[in-house]
Amino acid sequence: MIMKRVFSGIQPTSDSFHLGNYLGALKQWVELQDGHDGFYCIVDLHALSGEIEPTLLRKRTLSSAAQLIALGISPETSTLFVQSQVPHHNQLGWLMECLAGFGEASRMTQFKDKSAKGGAESARVGLFTYPMLQAADILLYQANLVPVGEDQRQHIELTRDLAGRFNTRFGQTFTIPENFILKSAAKIQDLQDPFSKMSKSSGSSAGVLEIMDTPESNMKKIKSAATDAGREVKFDEKEKPGISNLLAIHSALSGQTITALESEFEGKGYGDFKIAVADVVVEYLRPIRAKALELLEDENHLVDLLHVGAAKARTVATETLEKAYKNLGTVA
Ligand code: TYM
Repeated sequence: MIMKRVFSGIQPTSDSFHLGNYLGALKQWVELQDGHDGFYCIVDLHALSGEIEPTLLRKRTLSSAAQLIALGISPETSTLFVQSQVPHHNQLGWLMECLAGFGEASRMTQFKDKSAKGGAESARVGLFTYPMLQAADILLYQANLVPVGEDQRQHIELTRDLAGRFNTRFGQTFTIPENFILKSAAKIQDLQDPFSKMSKSSGSSAGVLEIMDTPESNMKKIKSAATDAGREVKFDEKEKPGISNLLAIHSALSGQTITALESEFEGKGYGDFKIAVADVVVEYLRPIRAKALELLEDENHLVDLLHVGAAKARTVATETLEKAYKNLGTVA
């Protein structure tokens, strides 16, 4: 039986992944390894569309690899690699740029949000072409499924459109991927501002639960999470966004349903509930952080593992790129 292919990527833009990354995407990466052919990419070229800091990029790329392995990505079962080690991403990225319309690229909300922050005039061109490189990432591997959080939905839609356009115009070349967005954890919110998503680029780290943070720090962040009016532990995203977010986090990590948690905490206050959430989060992350720190002690080994992944990735990427060039009429 041919296994379905899974592809996803994450930017090495901070020292630690956060719980939003994990519950929205990485947990599915790990689970989908079973019975699927997983390609998981640390997208360092995408990270260059933001602030470029060479020492940090290297450190964060290695830390990303260590965290992914610690979270359960197996470099033997799956193909774990760094994007810049497979130049085919840039090559197919160009083809995608030649296929995408200026108008459709201008409608990407992540581009609009990010470029609006620093002023459109100073926004980098790489930020604009970012979604076409993302489409290339996915299409190079003929991926069937792309596990991501809700914020990536529009980019996956664009990828599907570009793949369909290419196939129609130049002949069957790319698999059209589906997104794999878990409803329950697709959007984990900031603990201090439960109306905004938990994000690496949030102004303050007080509402962001980081995998590499100390247990004490994460415990403190949860205990001081913003809560809502009333005292009942009930899931209601409109009226109780803070408590609902904590319920979603607890449920995703403990495996208990939201309804079971609501009954467990009936009659108890927010204080008791927050302590329970903090315990679940801290105990879940403790061994993961320890494993990542251990892996980071041997950088050469991590680099070797990534080279093996890149070699596997290049084999598949070469085949797709050759097919695309051939269908476009380039002379080989
Ligand atoms: P990135 O690096 O911002 O985030 C990695 C993954 O984490 C998810 N995520 C969240 N999910 C739920 N709640 C949150 N608060 C939250 N914050 C982040 C993201 O949806 C994502 O799945 N453009 C991508 C990287 C990328 C990519 C790709 C992804 C490049 N090429 C190809 C898939 C396929 C990004 O910036 O993810």
